[in-house]
Amino acid sequence: MSSQETTEYYSNDFDWEKLRERIEDDPTLRYHFLPFTSQSSSSSSSILDSQSWNHFHARHSTGKFFKERRYLFKEFPELASCGEYSKVLEVGCGNGSTAISILRCKENILVFACDCSTEALDRATEIINASNVWLVCDSCCIMPLQKQNTPISDFENSEGGSSDITSSKKSECCIGPMDFVTLIFTLSAVPLDRMSTAVAECFSVLKPGGLLFFRDYGLYDMTMLRFEADQRVGFREYKRSDGTRSYFFSLDIARDLFLAAGFIEVELVYCCVKSVNRRKQKTMHRVWIHGKFQKPM
Ligand SMILES: C[S@@+](CC[C@H](N)C(=O)[O-])C[C@H]1O[C@@H](n2cnc3c(N)ncnc32)[C@H](O)[C@@H]1O
Repeated sequence: MSSQETTEYYSNDFDWEKLRERIEDDPTLRYHFLPFTSQSSSSSSSILDSQSWNHFHARHSTGKFFKERRYLFKEFPELASCGEYSKVLEVGCGNGSTAISILRCKENILVFACDCSTEALDRATEIINASNVWLVCDSCCIMPLQKQNTPISDFENSEGGSSDITSSKKSECCIGPMDFVTLIFTLSAVPLDRMSTAVAECFSVLKPGGLLFFRDYGLYDMTMLRFEADQRVGFREYKRSDGTRSYFFSLDIARDLFLAAGFIEVELVYCCVKSVNRRKQKTMHRVWIHGKFQKPM
């Protein structure tokens, strides 16, 4: 196991409540907690959001941002133990960091991926082709990645990103509801007022009993505290200068979103990881949220 994997997996380096107290007592950080009125909060259109992500992926086309997520199998062991040809939909696949990690660690699993950015899908396709793994099963590998550029909050089709791939295939292949949905650092990129639609769409593509794996930015992660006051676009919601967004989840907000869509909570915790930047001699307090939710049988 590499040191990077170790860092990301072990999730109880510090107590989240103590971090909360320290941050909420710091007057220089007070602007993060001020209420946001509905007039001042800015909701952008899904087209503008997609364009921002397209520019982001075009700018970061070198693959530097590609990061294998091998810890996924430790955090979500169901991915390792599932039956042959289980189907996974990776929502907001970016350059394929999650999709490729699943494909590398598990044979005979079918991975579908969608993203609102066509640039992201191009990057993911390049990286996956270069890695000699397929995003879908052998009989479908002529279409390694579907060009699905509909934002998840706008999906109308109950099969989400898999509809084109299934059109000319046998019924046992790439058709039907998903066994798993992965939402890995994607929901935080969706505006808060559209998250419930996005989660409902994830619910609709899962089979009864299917699992949704959630990992994203947690409240008081150090990257939240780096945002300036004028980057706030809502309560716990920020916009970067390139137009991409980031939301920081509390357990309560995440729970409410998933339960309102009909999910059952299986696991929901903060992952608190201390990592040291040796060059800058700085300790970083990372907070992620880890969730596992099930669609009722
Ligand atoms: C931080 S990246 C995460 C990528 C990937 N899941 C991973 O594990 O690295 C967030 C991705 O979500 C995509 N995204 C943002 N809003 C979306 C939406 N409404 N529908 C689909 N994808 C979206 C972005 O284009 C971006 O590729």
